[in-house]
Amino acid sequence: MGQFEEFADLEAKTAKEVLEWALKTYGDRVALASSFGAEDVVLIDMLARVDRRSRVFTLDTGRLPQETCDVMEKIRDKYGLKIEIYYPDTEAVEDMVAKYGPNLFYKNVELRKLCCEIRKVEPLKRALKELSAWITGLRREQSVTRTEVKKVEIDRSHNSIVKINPLADWSEEQVWSYIRENGVPYNALHDQNYPSIGCAPCTRAIKPGQDVRAGRWWWEDPEHKECGLHIKK
Ligand code: ADX
Ligand code: SF4
Repeated sequence: MGQFEEFADLEAKTAKEVLEWALKTYGDRVALASSFGAEDVVLIDMLARVDRRSRVFTLDTGRLPQETCDVMEKIRDKYGLKIEIYYPDTEAVEDMVAKYGPNLFYKNVELRKLCCEIRKVEPLKRALKELSAWITGLRREQSVTRTEVKKVEIDRSHNSIVKINPLADWSEEQVWSYIRENGVPYNALHDQNYPSIGCAPCTRAIKPGQDVRAGRWWWEDPEHKECGLHIKK
């Protein structure tokens, strides 16, 4: 079977089966990218059940909410997983903040993208350099930019490594049922109307009925609300 047929067949598999396949196929050359949002803690719980040596990494932008650090701590304690941390390049952050100020993201989209590039995208490239595949918590329902997400696909914006999205077809309800049924630690901001959580200055609570990502870069239009981690080429 060719790679593309194999990937297409995986569409019918459950999240756990996709993770088992990923670990069997890529071993220590695959890692979960975790921001410790609801989807990511589900995947951490599943991965820990399959193999406690599974790799997890996080991009610490230096602007994360305290609640995100708190859940990271709880996850470390509960699962005993070693979480690899990537920080942005110090000099690049120093130059950017000296030139444009600490709150540059509110000034215009270009500066917001520059900040995401330096604080998230470049560290992600470093994290992915030594991997053959990465796992994410992307779901199709999350936004207009994510409706085409496959469970397993080639990531053309990152050297064509394999990108694995085991929860692609999950609903928000399924994510929360899993968290509740399995007692998985989660970010306390989720209980304060924050369904999607990124950096503190670029995330706010949503109002009832609003889109799940409405609180992310809320001053921008929905078509452009990707920080560069998940851009399609
Ligand atoms: S973002 O691109 O808008 O920030 P989102 O918060 O929806 O992404 O998260 C989608 C997936 O991207 C997460 O499930 C996770 O796999 C990955 N991700 C997002 N932010 C980070 C981060 N700071 N560190 C590691 N992975 C992340
Ligand atoms: Fe910078 Fe905001 Fe992007 Fe975080 S989400 S890297 S603070 S622009």
